[in-house]
Amino acid sequence: MADTLTITDNRTGTQYEVSIAAGAIRATDLKQIKAGPDDKGLVTYDPAFLNTAACRSRITYIDGDAGILRYRGYPIEQLAEDSDFLETAYLILFGELPTQTAQEDWVRQVTLHTMLHENIKRFMEGFLYDAHPMGIFLSTVGALSTFYPDAKNIFDADSRRTQTLRLIAKVPSIAAYAYRHSIGRPYVYPDNDLSFTGNFLNMLFKMTELKYQPHPVLERALDVLFILHADHEQNCSTSAMRVIGSSHGDPYSALTGAAAALYGPLHGGANEAVLRMLQEIGSVGQVPSFMTKIKKGEGRLMGFGHRVYKSYDPRAKIIKQIADLVFSVTGKNPLLEIALELERIALEDDYFVSRRLYPNVDFYSGLIYQAMGFPLDMFPVLFAIPRTAGWIAQWEEMLLDSEQKISRPRQIYDGEAARDYVPMSKRQG
Ligand code: ACO
Repeated sequence: MADTLTITDNRTGTQYEVSIAAGAIRATDLKQIKAGPDDKGLVTYDPAFLNTAACRSRITYIDGDAGILRYRGYPIEQLAEDSDFLETAYLILFGELPTQTAQEDWVRQVTLHTMLHENIKRFMEGFLYDAHPMGIFLSTVGALSTFYPDAKNIFDADSRRTQTLRLIAKVPSIAAYAYRHSIGRPYVYPDNDLSFTGNFLNMLFKMTELKYQPHPVLERALDVLFILHADHEQNCSTSAMRVIGSSHGDPYSALTGAAAALYGPLHGGANEAVLRMLQEIGSVGQVPSFMTKIKKGEGRLMGFGHRVYKSYDPRAKIIKQIADLVFSVTGKNPLLEIALELERIALEDDYFVSRRLYPNVDFYSGLIYQAMGFPLDMFPVLFAIPRTAGWIAQWEEMLLDSEQKISRPRQIYDGEAARDYVPMSKRQG
């Protein structure tokens, strides 16, 4: 017998059968139930999508209680140990680890697309010197759609592949240009001899030397951070990507919306917010009074808590190990002591324990970025670069899913009933 749920309407005694598949019922099956005689059918009310699956996905698996994260079935710990970002991006985008030949071809193709059109550079020069790099980043990604009008052919697999290559390859160049613009340094062109992250460091930090040589520990650390940030199933920005993409615009426009969603301090902007919080706390001695304020509801402990993880975020565990490696090269970030003390108190304090609030991916990543020489406002941009792989994979999955249509949630209308227009002369107050 098929799994079904029987719902009894206590008002009429009518029974309804609703199928259960993959641990879910279909919200549209509830339409057969009427809340009243004129009702068009029962809807589910789920503000902020706390308990609504909006898609089927084969990309990323998370078990938030057990602290498990897998891309295409592979545990994040193994990918962080053995893979590199471009290989992981390939896995996320195409579903399987590449063969040697496929990997070489993929890396070569990405490398071929790293250059930006000179007009994009000029476009970016229009921003004020103190413009937030994330604002520059997302605006420029949006502008790419005007440079590649062929991106509108979203149902052409070859075109999707070309836009994928362009996006994966160009987002580090845009990010680096945004940074160089903000500090008034000339742009550095990509160096195709370097790795993905090595070249990114080159475009950010090269000065007058003839050839930039990234520090291998920092290059690898950034690569692992990119692996950890590459996808995270249906979070705020990925949902934005899917929703915008569902109206069948081009991927650059959709990705602009996803990056905008990431920008906020409750999502990818949290790494920047964590560092500002640590700087504001200032010293380990100030931690207890800061925590008292948080527990009174005066602000949030940034970098803590997660909608899905109700245990230690597995990415945060790996990041803590990378932090030690990076600090062995750069020297310890002086804010680390404050972060460790916050974590120590939070993991013992009933306020955080009872709400199952643990460090998330953003709690320690900012400390590493800062030690590596990135200014605070680059942090969300550093998140957006690897997440581009996840956004594109999720967008393409949505496009090819025959069950998907344009996203259009329902609402419960709480406003005024119909009423007649009042001329200005007759309005009160
Ligand atoms: N500090 C203090 N209290 C918190 C925190 C926090 N960081 N996070 C949640 N809480 C409290 C809430 O006040 C609430 O308490 P209450 O039940 O007494 O009202 C309870 O925990 C549940 O919080 P919600 O807001 O309902 O949890 P939600 O799932 O909606 O929010 C979120 C998740 C946005 C990540 C939240 O934990 C938060 O704001 N964290 C800080 C920002 C942050 O680090 N964001 C990055 C997340 S990871 C990422 O996006 C890449």
